[in-house]
Amino acid sequence: TQAATPVDSDPKIIRRKLNGYVGFANLPKQWHRKSIRRGFNFNLMVVGEKGLGKSTLMNTLFNKDLYDLNTHESQMKFDVDITEDSLTPSIRIDTLNTEIEENNVKLNLSIIDCVGFGSSIDLTNSWKPIVDEIDSRFDSFLEAETKINRSSSIQDNRIHALLYFIEPTGHCLKPLDINFMKQVHEKVNLIPIVAKSDILTETEIQDFKSKILQDLNNQNIKIFNPISYENDDEETKMMNHDIISKIPYAIVGSNNLIKLNDGRLVRGRSYPWGIIEIDNEQHCDFIKLRQLLIRNFMEELKDLTSKKLYENYRSNKLAKMGILQDDSVFKEFDPILKQEEEKKLHEAKLANLENQMKQIFQQKVSREEKKLQETEADLFSKHKEMRDKLLKQIKMLEEKKKELESNSKLIDQQIHQPQQPQPMQSPQLQQP
Ligand code: GTP
Repeated sequence: TQAATPVDSDPKIIRRKLNGYVGFANLPKQWHRKSIRRGFNFNLMVVGEKGLGKSTLMNTLFNKDLYDLNTHESQMKFDVDITEDSLTPSIRIDTLNTEIEENNVKLNLSIIDCVGFGSSIDLTNSWKPIVDEIDSRFDSFLEAETKINRSSSIQDNRIHALLYFIEPTGHCLKPLDINFMKQVHEKVNLIPIVAKSDILTETEIQDFKSKILQDLNNQNIKIFNPISYENDDEETKMMNHDIISKIPYAIVGSNNLIKLNDGRLVRGRSYPWGIIEIDNEQHCDFIKLRQLLIRNFMEELKDLTSKKLYENYRSNKLAKMGILQDDSVFKEFDPILKQEEEKKLHEAKLANLENQMKQIFQQKVSREEKKLQETEADLFSKHKEMRDKLLKQIKMLEEKKKELESNSKLIDQQIHQPQQPQPMQSPQLQQP
C-alpha cells in the first residue's frame, strides 16, 4: 500500500493508489448494462387549452404518430358538457402508453393528456382534476412504498414533467395560466412553452418571453431549474445553461416533411413567405425542448420528482396524518411505526373513498328527485287533460239527455192529444 496523500481541498478525504486491478472501474458498465436491460420510463403530462398543438408537438417530439391527427381522438371524444354541471370543469385525463426504441434502448413513455382544460364556462377550479391526478399518482407510490411486503421494483407513475402550453397572445399570462401554474408548481417539474410561436415575430417572441418570466416571478411560480449540472465540466455547463436559459421555449410543431431548394427534406410548416424548420434553432426552440426533456435532463427530471417534489408531498401528507418525521431522514426501521403509517394511509384512503361515494350517492339522489318531480308534473298535466276531457263528455251527455227528455215530452204530448176523426174512405170497386 502506498502512502496516503490528503486531497488538497478536503483534509478528510485521503486518496490512495492501488497496486493492482480490483475491478470497480467497471461499475459504470454494470450500471449501464442493467439500465439497458430494465429500460427507462418517463411520464410526461401535457396541459393547455384546446387546439394549441399539444398532439402535434407530442408526435414531433418523439418522431412517432402517437396521435392520429386526421381523426383527432381527443377532439372526437370530448365535448364541453353544457347541459349538466356546465359550471364545473369537465376535464378528462387520458393516458397514452407507448414503447419507443432507439439504438436498442427502450423508453416506456406515458403521455398524460388533460383533455378539455380551459374549455368550461367557469374556469376557477379548472386545475382541480389535474392536481387530483398528480396527487393520486403520488399516493399510489406512497402506498406501494409503505407496504410491509414491498415488491422489489415499484411502478413509478409519478409525473416527471409537465409541459404547459401558453397561448401566443403576445400579452401577459392569463389568469387561467397563473391559477393553474400556482397550483402545480410545487408538485411537478413545470416547463412552460409558448405554443404555435410561428404566429409571432422574433421581437414579439422575445418580449412575450420576458413578460411571462416576469409574471412567473411576480407570482412566485417556480419552473424547472436543474441543479446537478453545476458540478459538470465547463463545456457541459455552458450547454446546459443555454438549454435552461431559453425557457419558456417558443415552440412550433409539425410532422410534415418539406423539400427545400437545396434538396434537403426537413420537418416544418410552409407559408407563402417561407418555411419554418422545426429542427432549426434559428427558427424556434424545439431542439432546446427536446434536449431538455430527452437528451440532457430526463434523469434529472425524474430525480427531482423523486427526491424533492415527492419527498415534499410525502412529508406533508404524513405530517397531516400526525406522523412527524425525525430530524434524520434515515432513521431506523420501526415496524410498528410503519404499520401505523400504513394504517393511517389506509384509513385516509377509506375516508376519501367514503366521501366520494357519498358525493356520488347525493348526485344520484338529486338526479332521481329531479326525475320524480318531472314525472309528477307530467302525471299532473295528464290528469288535468283527462279531467277536462271527461268534463267535456259529461257536458255533452247532459246536453244529449236534455234533448232526449224534450223529445220524449213532445212524443208524450202527441200520444195524449185527442184523435181527429178520420175521413170516410169510399169502397173500392172490384175489378172483374
Ligand atoms: P386538442 O386535443 O383539441 O386540445 O388540440 P391540440 O392541442 O392537440 O392541437 P392539435 O395538435 O390537434 O393542433 C390543432 C391545429 O393546430 C392543427 O390544425 C395543427 O396543424 C395546428 N398546429 C399544431 N401545431 C402548430 C404550430 O406550431 N403552429 C401552427 N401555426 N399551427 C399548429
